[in-house]
Amino acid sequence: MQRRRLVYEGKAKILYEGPEPGTLIQHFKDDATAFDATKKATVEGKGVLNNRISEYIMVQLNNVGIPTHFIRRLNMREQLVREVEIIPLEVVVRNVAAGSIAKRLGLEEGTPLPRSIVEFYYKNDKLHDPMVSEEHITAFGWAAPQDIDDMMGLALRTNDFLSGLFLGVGIRLVDFKVEFGRVWENDLMRIILADEISPDGCRLWDIETGRKLDKDVFRRDLGNLADAYAEVARRLGIVQETPPGDAKGPVLVSDNTQT
Ligand code: TMP
Ligand code: ASP
Repeated sequence: MQRRRLVYEGKAKILYEGPEPGTLIQHFKDDATAFDATKKATVEGKGVLNNRISEYIMVQLNNVGIPTHFIRRLNMREQLVREVEIIPLEVVVRNVAAGSIAKRLGLEEGTPLPRSIVEFYYKNDKLHDPMVSEEHITAFGWAAPQDIDDMMGLALRTNDFLSGLFLGVGIRLVDFKVEFGRVWENDLMRIILADEISPDGCRLWDIETGRKLDKDVFRRDLGNLADAYAEVARRLGIVQETPPGDAKGPVLVSDNTQT
């Protein structure tokens, strides 16, 4: 088998050198981590589901004119993406109070926010991804004021699109995290969406029941994580099959022998 050059290994994904210059292969692992990887597990099927969900979302975003690094899916666990220079920020958009904002500002989880809020975190596990302001971002040179405007614009457009997409399948998009990267086209630099958009980096609540369909299932020990992700994929129409662990076998429709 041909050996591929490993470019970067993260907690949930591996990046390999792609087949052409300027491309990478993004491989989705089954590893789940939380709280800066102090909590770890392998969740069978997670990588396959996130590959498919992220593909679906990135294709839809590209279709509405939001530029992303996604090129095409290669197989069950891998996709071909454009190589970008990652901006070391996690950009979080919130619609409803949950997680760290609920704790930080003393809000009850589930409280709708006055408007969508964009937050920036410095991507550094050792420092526990501290929240940073535009002042820090520009002073330390992580991004220029124009880059920040571009990221906020793209993050909010992504939020509008995804909120509608999920609402259509009975899911409330509470919050999500995205990452951005720079690409150069001739002498022009452009910022595009990178990384992944999957239930690993979103909060997704069932509209009717409030059931959590995201990584909080793992963080808070609320059940089977792959089942929750499979439900998201099923509702989006990505996979039809029964979620893992929920196979019931053939259903008897009528039983004429018992009359
Ligand atoms: P938070 O409430 O913990 O700040 O998380 C906000 C959103 O960002 C939530 O949907 C989970 C996502 N997120 C990540 O994807 N990676 C991270 O490292 C953190 C802290 C949050
Ligand atoms: N901090 C992130 C979480 O809590 C991811 C991680 O730590 O691995 O989900």
